[in-house]
Amino acid sequence: MEPKQTVLITGATSGIGKELARLFAKEGYKLVIVARDEQKLEDTADELKEIGALQVTPISCDLSVVGSAQKLYNQVRKRRIVIGTLINDAGAGEHGFFKETPLDEELAIIQLNVTSLVQLTKLYMREMVRRDEGKILQLASIASYQPTPLLAVYAATKAFVLSFTDALINELKDSNVTMTALIPGATDTEFYVRANAENIKATENMAGPDVVAKIGFQALMNGKPHAVAPGMKSQILKSSLMSNQQVAAMARKQMEVKTTPS
Ligand SMILES: NC(=O)c1ccc[n+]([C@@H]2O[C@H](COP(=O)([O-])OP(=O)(O)OC[C@H]3O[C@@H](n4cnc5c(N)ncnc54)[C@H](OP(=O)(O)O)[C@@H]3O)[C@@H](O)[C@H]2O)c1
Repeated sequence: MEPKQTVLITGATSGIGKELARLFAKEGYKLVIVARDEQKLEDTADELKEIGALQVTPISCDLSVVGSAQKLYNQVRKRRIVIGTLINDAGAGEHGFFKETPLDEELAIIQLNVTSLVQLTKLYMREMVRRDEGKILQLASIASYQPTPLLAVYAATKAFVLSFTDALINELKDSNVTMTALIPGATDTEFYVRANAENIKATENMAGPDVVAKIGFQALMNGKPHAVAPGMKSQILKSSLMSNQQVAAMARKQMEVKTTPS
């Protein structure tokens, strides 16, 4: 049997990224896991080894900092680890009216959700194309299809991720390297608390991160372009039939705070 390759997962200590890491660990892969919190990285590494990962390398890195993606790449290279699968999962949002939300926070979100994702994709996709093998999973969102008031910067970053991914899928079509966009709807993770959005209407009906990760894992392994979370296909279709302003009005309702917080 061929030795299993190494999978690099950003955002592997929580939510969808952690569930993806668990799926690869159970299949006996080697993993590089990336997030900021060192203790959570250590705890996650221990758990992943317990459930079957052949080797886990935790790397603490703040991908919202300029230059951090290149630093991460250099650290992985220094350890002579070859990445067979890249999962760009780490991402964040900030809830609120754009006229009131902190700009620094939003520029950091763009750096994390867009710039670092592009940098890591550039660095690892080049290597994969040279070897003519490899897989990349990009975390898009239902927000990729919906201009979203009260989460405007976040939704715009996810529109970027989907457009970028679809263009690269086309560029890669004559190679053995595949790229997949995972498109979750509202998912029960730490995302909403971190985004100061724990009491918004969108959180009333959330999918489990394990369900979303499984759909992403299967699509990635099969080289499929998109993995759409349950219930989201009809939303995508609905959005495609409406004007952007109609979509924004619909999305805004989901972003409003519930009248009785749970
Ligand atoms: N939850 C949803 O409803 C939903 C819907 C659609 C798409 N998504 C996308 O799914 C992805 C995962 O989100 P999630 O819901 O699973 O979120 P989550 O539970 O908040 O997990 C986020 C993960 O990313 C890491 N992270 C956050 N900021 C980082 C930074 N600056 N540098 C490095 N790592 C960082 C976190 O660890 P540290 O804090 O320790 O760094 C954590 O491991 C994101 O791209 C998100 O946009 C989520």
